[in-house]
Amino acid sequence: MIKCISCGMEYEDDNIIYTCNNCGSILEVICDVDVSKEIFNCRKSTMWKYKEFMPVNESSIVTLQEGGTPFCKCEKLGEKLGVELHVKVEGSNPTGSFKDRGMSVGISKALELGVNAVGCASTGNTSASLAAYAARAGLRCIVLLPSGKVALGKLAQAMFHGADVISVKGNFDEALEAVTALALEGELYLLNSVNPYRLEGQKTIGYEIVDDLGWQSPDRIILPVGNAGNISAIWKGIKEFHRAGFMEDLPMMTGIQAEGAAPIVKAFENGKEDIVPFENPETVATAIRIGAPVSALKAIRAINESDGYAETVSDEEILSAQKLLARTEGIGVEPASAASIAGLIKLVEKGVVDKNEKIVCIVTGHLLKDPNTAINACTEPVEIDADIDKLSKFISGL
Ligand code: F0G
Repeated sequence: MIKCISCGMEYEDDNIIYTCNNCGSILEVICDVDVSKEIFNCRKSTMWKYKEFMPVNESSIVTLQEGGTPFCKCEKLGEKLGVELHVKVEGSNPTGSFKDRGMSVGISKALELGVNAVGCASTGNTSASLAAYAARAGLRCIVLLPSGKVALGKLAQAMFHGADVISVKGNFDEALEAVTALALEGELYLLNSVNPYRLEGQKTIGYEIVDDLGWQSPDRIILPVGNAGNISAIWKGIKEFHRAGFMEDLPMMTGIQAEGAAPIVKAFENGKEDIVPFENPETVATAIRIGAPVSALKAIRAINESDGYAETVSDEEILSAQKLLARTEGIGVEPASAASIAGLIKLVEKGVVDKNEKIVCIVTGHLLKDPNTAINACTEPVEIDADIDKLSKFISGL
């Protein structure tokens, strides 16, 4: 069953529907499961470990073994900031971002619905993931990308997996509007995060964090927010495990946006549930360069219900956090992902995060998704003859 989050209207699972026919608001999948957590014991560590909580039949599952990502305790960075820090490394998913979790469920659902073509608008990662899962399922894939603004690793993936890649003159929000119109015309099955099945996959990040911590909640989960599907999904997952009695406490959901693309932070600061879109969003973190997030209402509710927080970070803070994480803890992430670490640093400085809090930062995509930003942050290597004397002299002079 699918339900409208505003008016409560319910729809059958086999409806191809993205927003409520009655009030236009966004939808969510109802998940009503009664199992004991012992059933998860000894299962392989992928997100399908929690298959009872997934809204697809086991026989239709399309998977690349997504989920079960590293959960790294970061002692050095944690000590520096005065918190217990764990980092959930979503760049370790099959195509290098958390989107694979959502696409595994979304594409499985697409097969159940019998569609021939799937599509999305994307700042990059959604398209890379959709292209791979559509290829695996044998479905046509059409992706609309904001022209000139998609990081090269992601663009290469979408093209290489055989998607029809269209560069749209406009930003992500405009591309999303266009692909939504195509979906409503019946041209394709839309797999942006407005599709509630996508979020059913992504909610497993929340499940895994609780499982990783020995069936306990962290004090706070911090993550970057763009179109706002992920924070909404993780909160949904956490609430489901809480309702199932698998954990006692709840985490404060803390969303971080780039200064130049921060409609959710502004709404949070103004105590509003509605956002005012950013007309021309801009940030080095192109993955979250989004002015009108479709899941804003779910995200703002997640932040408020969990007594969480929303904060902005500058491009400079993002790039400096990206380097800090790479060089202190060995975790390479793309700029948008580093927004979670930049946000943590800022919130510690502001006193919003208490000393000794148990924090989970979610880093959403791999460093190599955006190779140009990584290369530009470094100096070119010096070229030297393969001569031991010259090399020794050079190394000792460094
Ligand atoms: N981090 C990365 C690396 C992303 O690619 C995205 C979103 C986010 C964070 C934000 O997640 O949208 O659920 O709030 N990327 C989308 C895309 C928009 O098209 O790949 P969100």
